[in-house]
Amino acid sequence: MNIKTVILAAGQGTRMRSEKPKILHRIADKPLLKHVYDMSARIPGNSICIVYGHGAEQVRDELSSLDAVWVEQKERLGTGHAVQQAVGHIGDRDTVLILYGDVPLLKLETVETLLALVGENSMGLLTVDLVNPAGYGRIVRDGANKVVKIVEEKDASDEIKAVTEVNTGILAVAGGRLKNWLGRLGNDNAQGEYYLTDVIEMASGGGVEVRTAHPRRMTEVMGINDRKQLSHLERVYQMEQADKLMAEGVTLRDHARFDLRGEIETIGRDVEIDVNVVLEGKLRIGSNVRIGPNTVIVNSEIADDVEILANCVIENARIGAGSRIGPFARIRPETVLAEQVHVGNFVEIKKSSVDRGSKINHLSYVGDAVVGSGVNIGAGTITCNYDGANKFQTFIGDGAFIGSDTQLVAPVTVGKNATIGAGSTITRDTPEDRLTLSRSKQLTIEGWQRPVKKEK
Ligand code: UD1
Ligand code: CA
Repeated sequence: MNIKTVILAAGQGTRMRSEKPKILHRIADKPLLKHVYDMSARIPGNSICIVYGHGAEQVRDELSSLDAVWVEQKERLGTGHAVQQAVGHIGDRDTVLILYGDVPLLKLETVETLLALVGENSMGLLTVDLVNPAGYGRIVRDGANKVVKIVEEKDASDEIKAVTEVNTGILAVAGGRLKNWLGRLGNDNAQGEYYLTDVIEMASGGGVEVRTAHPRRMTEVMGINDRKQLSHLERVYQMEQADKLMAEGVTLRDHARFDLRGEIETIGRDVEIDVNVVLEGKLRIGSNVRIGPNTVIVNSEIADDVEILANCVIENARIGAGSRIGPFARIRPETVLAEQVHVGNFVEIKKSSVDRGSKINHLSYVGDAVVGSGVNIGAGTITCNYDGANKFQTFIGDGAFIGSDTQLVAPVTVGKNATIGAGSTITRDTPEDRLTLSRSKQLTIEGWQRPVKKEK
């Protein structure tokens, strides 16, 4: 089956009160339209056509990489008019699937159920039953319970307003038929718009059965019109992701306080994630990993048995097995930590590698450094990697011991098993196995007295 998905995305979204078109607002850091696109890209034999309009330039700039045909709707004259813009891309033998760019949580399985309703003499319409149907188009059925038409709220009599089955806007139909019906749409209605929904009456009048499908959950067909709905569907989406992770064997201390804005490519067993953890981008997480509260991890790989304590920020990094990070550590891009590395409080590491078993436990900055195995970096150590114009590297050999409050002025190499005395400023390479320090001699002044306040 050749499927042509037409995503309607030209609307403005006035109630968002935004400079940005509605479909560029994000759920889990992904534009609403991209959610719809990603789901439809998984439909086999599908090609996608996006009808856009409001904020055209911004939309194209941000989403030009999508593999879709873009059709601009210059004036917003209604959903029927929107689909008319795509007619040139619809083949008679295509099955056309209509989706909305501001309905981000629709599931593939629901769409597949809907597509299966399209036959020789039938089409598919996705409807839901609502306790409060106000605002939606109502599904009108005849005595034999067959769908005969959709009436918009603004055109509805009180009797029709009492109907609780409503149109979600999502439908599937043969391309040839749809094109014929679109050519016959008028705008003689309360809103003066070309309603796509009018094709339903044309279908039933022309002997095409309108068969209905329903989503498993109401949230699948909820559209976003304002920031409150955006926030609501963000939570729904996050809860779904949390459910999936828990089903895979991850413990979430509070599934309502977990955010995944990206994708976990792999995750092992018995991972424990504490509250307010935000995971972004692409992540790989091993088994028995523990992630403490208030931690942000972006595009990183965390190996087995790693413990990340509270309040860490880790970005574009690899953390080796059995390592312990934090609390309050910042691991910046291009950092690679080997196994059993300890990084403690208020430590910042950037673009550095740290080999097996090394410890940087307190208040240090390590940038552009290659740190060997079994190294101990004392509190307050700083690699001075930047002279204001250029960056330089620091090399620290295996087994070195760097005393507290040391400045390593790069480029500089600390030899294997070297010891650096506390408080040193190291500007030249230091030999292996020896103690090096740079420190002025300690003095005590005999007979010195503290000043006292003069009497007035
Ligand atoms: C539409 C349906 C209504 C249904 C409701 C579900 C029609 C006439 N009515 O109403 O039966 O219950 O959706 O939410 O179809 N759009 C364009 N170009 C336009 C107009 C709309 O691209 O000229 C897009 C919007 O961006 C949006 C979608 O189509 O994604 C629906 O438009 P909207 O104005 O929300 O439709 P409703 O009037 O709510
Ligand atoms: Ca709407």
